[in-house]
Amino acid sequence: MKTQIIRYTNKASLEPAAAILRDGGIVAFPTETVYGLGGNAFDPAAAKKIYEAKGRPSDNPLIVHLHDYRTAGQYAHTTPLFFELAEAFMPGPLTIILRKRSFIPDSVTGGLDTVGLRVPSHPIARELIELAGVPVAAPSANLSGKPSPTAFSHVMHDLNGRVDAIIDGGTSEFGVESTIIKLENDGTIKLLRPGAITIEMLSLFSDHIEVDPAVTQKFDGIPLAPGMKYRHYAPSSPLTVLEGDNDAVYEFLNGKERCGVICFDEDLPFIRGKHVYTCGPREDSLTQAKRLFDCLRRLDDVEGIDVIFARMPAKVGIGLAVFNRLLKAAGFSVRTLPPKR
Ligand code: TXA
Ligand code: MG
Repeated sequence: MKTQIIRYTNKASLEPAAAILRDGGIVAFPTETVYGLGGNAFDPAAAKKIYEAKGRPSDNPLIVHLHDYRTAGQYAHTTPLFFELAEAFMPGPLTIILRKRSFIPDSVTGGLDTVGLRVPSHPIARELIELAGVPVAAPSANLSGKPSPTAFSHVMHDLNGRVDAIIDGGTSEFGVESTIIKLENDGTIKLLRPGAITIEMLSLFSDHIEVDPAVTQKFDGIPLAPGMKYRHYAPSSPLTVLEGDNDAVYEFLNGKERCGVICFDEDLPFIRGKHVYTCGPREDSLTQAKRLFDCLRRLDDVEGIDVIFARMPAKVGIGLAVFNRLLKAAGFSVRTLPPKR
């Protein structure tokens, strides 16, 4: 398949992409979190194309992207708490799972009776959805199992030749996928996937925030977000997250050969070796989120490493999302180093 590359200049430059969506094709487009691979959410054939292009299991539901949260009632059964949260955080990096209405095809929701709704804030995403005139079902625009794409080059690497069009939108603002929540009848907010809308922010809207166990632990049951059960973001060499103080971590790493490292800026002077990538300052979870997937992709391309070690990030705010994505990339492998005296 010949993939059309679209460079954004103004709204009109997105019309060919919008036409592809209306005609049942699939288009990769930038959002503020990661790039998405979109198709008309009313069209089961478009959903099928998305699953095929990604190599994704079709029981893993797609998020439906809207231009305006006020239309959510057309697609799902809304609640007062949905509108409170939507007013605060939409457009933005939040997906809310609601009971779906019947004209959202089962093929989009992996057979579930719920649908995840999201209103992206990225101007290109917003204009594209508006021009298309249909809700856009979109997973992240990576090959299944690879880190979500946070740069145009990542999308080209994974999907050029597999999709109808790719829109160049530079680098993603947040770099981790949207926060996913489900609203329970008793007012509880269940966090299925952490992101840039943090627990701290959500707790202004409910006294009961429950974190799905699949966020922080290897989970053998059926997770609420089906995608959480798949090994994700896995680099080609096995990854282990290191828990420990600076001295313990430096001594451990400097005793290893043929390893790749993901660390913080402050660590650079203390770690020897060629394959050391920093994801940002230690205290700056926002930058770490932005850079993590690029670090994982770069390490994928490196020859001559057998294993990758990553430093443990802070677990608060958007740091919880960084922690969750690293754990998933590591298949939940964490090694705790005893402190140095
Ligand atoms: O930031 C994002 O959310 C990006 C951009 C493109 O919007 N999209 C994204 O989609 O990350 P995807 O498909 O890669 O991840 C969606 C996750 C999957 O783990 C899926 O299982 C879960 O959301 N999900 C989708 N619909 C669901 C539903 N109705 N119930 C439970 N989980 C759902
Ligand atoms: Mg994904």
